[in-house]
Amino acid sequence: MKVLCLNGPNLNRLGKREKKAYGTFTLEELENELMDFAGSNGINLMCMQSNHEGELVDWIHLAADDGTDAIVLNAGAYTHTSVAIRDAIASIQIPVVEVHISNVYKREEFRHHSYIAPVAAGQITGFGQDVYKLALHALLLQQSRG
Ligand code: DQA
Repeated sequence: MKVLCLNGPNLNRLGKREKKAYGTFTLEELENELMDFAGSNGINLMCMQSNHEGELVDWIHLAADDGTDAIVLNAGAYTHTSVAIRDAIASIQIPVVEVHISNVYKREEFRHHSYIAPVAAGQITGFGQDVYKLALHALLLQQSRG
């Protein structure tokens, strides 16, 4: 199974930004751990991060056309604002798992709405860096059920 892990704006600041909400691990540490997990579970994983909405849209389109089987997406703040990312997901056939490191429902009201949730296969939120692994687990389970 080929999976794209896509991180949106400000996630390159993990380890430095709002540590109470996001912990102390860096994006590099997170991605390295995820690559190890993917490798031992037969997943061909590619990790990308961008602060730019249009670039995220482009990568979602590319993944849909290059044989990628699923996307794990943390769209960061674009989750709460981006109709363009919502429409990009609606335009493709492969499943997108929405993840958030923090529990967005415990936080400010503006984080309670996701444009992505209605077009995502599912949402995992609030388990820190483990949300990415949980998303891969969910995809493996789905795959094993055919
Ligand atoms: C986030 C939650 C968003 O509300 C926020 O804008 C982020 C990170 C998370 O992973 O918890 O940048 O997606």
